[in-house]
Amino acid sequence: MVKYSMDFKSIIRDIPDFPQQGIIFRDITPLLAHRDGLTAIIQDFKTKFAELNIGEIDCIIGIESRGFILGAALAMALGCSFVPVRKPKKLPSAVFRVEYSLEYGTDTLEMHQDAISVGERVVIIDDVIATGGTAAATAKLIKEAGAELLGYGFLIELDFLNGRKALPEVPIVSLVNY
Ligand code: PRP
Ligand code: MG
Repeated sequence: MVKYSMDFKSIIRDIPDFPQQGIIFRDITPLLAHRDGLTAIIQDFKTKFAELNIGEIDCIIGIESRGFILGAALAMALGCSFVPVRKPKKLPSAVFRVEYSLEYGTDTLEMHQDAISVGERVVIIDDVIATGGTAAATAKLIKEAGAELLGYGFLIELDFLNGRKALPEVPIVSLVNY
């Protein structure tokens, strides 16, 4: 196996004042566009989850939409299943639904009721953890399904927002911190 070592931060592009004044948007598209980018990200996730000794992962839960890219690639690398958690009214069969609050208003996420089984060992993957609201809501869906949440993986963690405080306490892997 070729070992990739990549300075993710130098390839992630900072976009000031997007989507609002005063926010620096961390744009991962240049990293995805790099020929070794996705390989290096997935290798890092694999190494860091292996170091946690959490045992076999049955399923990766990817959060729409950027969590789909990383989650699906990791599921493939681990040889496990992939389940999407989606924005409302996208999934066609019976769903578990969770509403969570944003700075202004609320948002909703859904997961198919039959997507994961009771006791299944799952990991949540997303590109970014900011306030933690999205990942915390996803953890609720997993609890409702009766699955076992082993951990979370994020490419980027915005430390200053303290999002990990919002999450049920299982290990968190993050590859880049701001
Ligand atoms: C972004 C990001 C995470 C979430 C993190 O997604 O991709 O999913 O926000 O924020 P939080 O920790 O404060 O909940 P967004 O809702 O912008 O949608 P997208 O992934 O479809 O672009
Ligand atoms: Mg997202």
